Amino acid sequence: MTDLLLTGIGELVTNDPSKGGLLGLLHDAAVAVKGGRIAWVGAESEVPAEFRELPELDCGGRAVTPGFVDCHTHLVFGGDRADEFARRLRGESYEKIMATGGGIQNTVEATRAAGRSSLLNDTVRRAKRMLGAGTTTVEIKSGYGLDLEHELLMLGVATSVADHLAIDVVPTFLGAHVVPSEYENDRAGYVQLVIEVMIPAAAGHARFCDVFCDVGAFSVDEARRILSAAQEHGLGPRLHANQLGHSGGAQLAAEIGAVSADHLDHLVDGDIAGLRDAGTVAVLFPTVSLSLQIDPPPARRLWDAGIPVAIATDCNPGTSYVENMQLVIAIATLTAGLTPEEATWAATRGGARALQLGDKGHVTPGAAADLLMLEADSYLAIPYRPGTDLVRMVIKDGVPVAT
Ligand code: NIG
Ligand code: FE
Repeated sequence: MTDLLLTGIGELVTNDPSKGGLLGLLHDAAVAVKGGRIAWVGAESEVPAEFRELPELDCGGRAVTPGFVDCHTHLVFGGDRADEFARRLRGESYEKIMATGGGIQNTVEATRAAGRSSLLNDTVRRAKRMLGAGTTTVEIKSGYGLDLEHELLMLGVATSVADHLAIDVVPTFLGAHVVPSEYENDRAGYVQLVIEVMIPAAAGHARFCDVFCDVGAFSVDEARRILSAAQEHGLGPRLHANQLGHSGGAQLAAEIGAVSADHLDHLVDGDIAGLRDAGTVAVLFPTVSLSLQIDPPPARRLWDAGIPVAIATDCNPGTSYVENMQLVIAIATLTAGLTPEEATWAATRGGARALQLGDKGHVTPGAAADLLMLEADSYLAIPYRPGTDLVRMVIKDGVPVAT
């Protein structure tokens, strides 16, 4: 059933600027879906005759929003790092744990040891929980393989998730996450391997290339070379930038016109002007700051500067083992200064912008019919009632999904 007429929508978030306001809210609305795409949106009293015979789904006065687009995750990984989480809560820093062999290296070992079926099984289970909580599109990075075989394995697992669930997957190659321990004394050799071997091999299996450009990871110069090679192979550039310090990553994102610059916890005004001029999307992670117990991301500064802001889970076993975008919206409003309207936009249209998905994150004719019926009469309930699952029904490409 990819044709549907949703009626009785008490409040509809369209994200259509022509409807007024940031969210383009409509009340007492209806949405017609044909062939998995939005065919018509408007007042229920004005449904055109051609759509009145479609199978009807009465929303009973509830709110409907676009599906969430979680535009930055590290969903494929082996093991977990609950022990490191406890160490951090006792006062050790993420950077110190990382510098002493823990952190990402720890997950690289567990991921290499896990094997395909266990990785796929665990990733599908995580993605299923995401879908149930309203995420209809998820970006998934590699980055815990750090050799050709395991990076390709991770990308393959990420892509396969979409064979098991009604969720769209956007795979991103993150071979430059950290330098793996076997290249400890030859980082130049690892960068060369990424550029000359891994990127050409990953090109057919990923849409984007990401680099962790920070203290303890990759320098600006290394990241520039890696992303330049990636672009030559058709992979759009994105960056983990300025997460741990003033790494120069944000400036590099502006210089190369990166699709997104993610984290951005440490910024100077010049970084912000550069990102705005480059049209780069700022992807922020309120739950990472919460988990690391650091200041929230500078969402207000970026938004007020006119930069498109997305929020995402960054779901990973280290800094944010969070699968639920409803929680991210709530934490973004409660800690990072976004209004409920802004956070809702950032979790839907903002995420789609960060992945260059023109047909996602809005409810307008021609867009994908990825919709959420809430167990509430307004989108406001999501930040207002953190911790309660308020997604009553997920509709993916026009089909109600059993979750
Ligand atoms: O986005 N900063 C780099 N990567 C992840 C953390 C990965 C990990 O700790 O395993 C992040 O926070
Ligand atoms: Fe990340």
